[in-house]
Amino acid sequence: MIKQAIIPLAGLGTRLLPLTSVFAKELLPINGKPAIEYIIEECIEAGIKEIIFIISKKKEIIKNYFHNDKFYKDIISKKKDARIIKEYRKILRYKKMIKFVYQDKPLGTGDAVLKTKKFIKDKFFLMLLPDDLIIKKNCSRSMIKVHKKFKGSVMASLKVNKKTVSRWGIYGIKKNINKNNFIIKSVVEKPNIKQAPSNKAVIGRYILPISIFKKLKNLKPNKGGEIHITDAIQLLINDNVKFIGHNFLGKYLDCGTMNGYIKSSMEISKL
Ligand code: UTP
Repeated sequence: MIKQAIIPLAGLGTRLLPLTSVFAKELLPINGKPAIEYIIEECIEAGIKEIIFIISKKKEIIKNYFHNDKFYKDIISKKKDARIIKEYRKILRYKKMIKFVYQDKPLGTGDAVLKTKKFIKDKFFLMLLPDDLIIKKNCSRSMIKVHKKFKGSVMASLKVNKKTVSRWGIYGIKKNINKNNFIIKSVVEKPNIKQAPSNKAVIGRYILPISIFKKLKNLKPNKGGEIHITDAIQLLINDNVKFIGHNFLGKYLDCGTMNGYIKSSMEISKL
């Protein structure tokens, strides 16, 4: 059973500057709702009971968003506004599920994951990168089904234009299991076109085994000077740990770039 999810939120969000100079990108509204709420809802629908947020001192605004009880209580006692009461109840429900841990410096996603080590209770956990919104079909729920059926770690995969492979983590494929799932042979961070083993890219949904922590502990910074989660995954694959790539059926929205962020509101407003 996968009951815990972790969400790294301690990055700087430089691609969304100036919006992120004093604000957290994960709280930026997408069609009138903070981006992070879409991710929380995906988790809840997928049966997740506890979510661990990895934040930093610079991103405490995220914690404040969920811990603003006095503010809501004062307003509600004065206004008795049904919409505000409903919103506050929703925030309270989210708050109950969320635990906060800190990453002091943005050393990379791998380092962020390592901060959750002592809180993970089961053999596997879910990780979601909040920049990657997937709408129309719950990707986490589908991945949990794949995990149960094939008994392995699972990562979301999306076919991308060959010309753009250098922007992504790219999968090498060992063999297809069926139309939507394959065994991963390798994961290469941002390869050039010639080196890319396929045009299937890593998207920010992962079901990871707790053995990842051992690998992360000894990892050194790699491309871009960061500690990448994909490097730890490759080490596990080298040890014959089963990783399955899942071609998800939902629609992917990249909210980490300015263009993608603007488009995501338009796409969601059409739903
Ligand atoms: P990204 O590298 O895509 O986002 O990390 P970023 O660093 O926030 O933004 P840019 O690249 O400067 O525009 C993917 C996710 O991992 C988190 C980020 O907050 C983001 O949600 N992250 C990244 C961490 O929590 N810690 C890190 O050290 C790096």
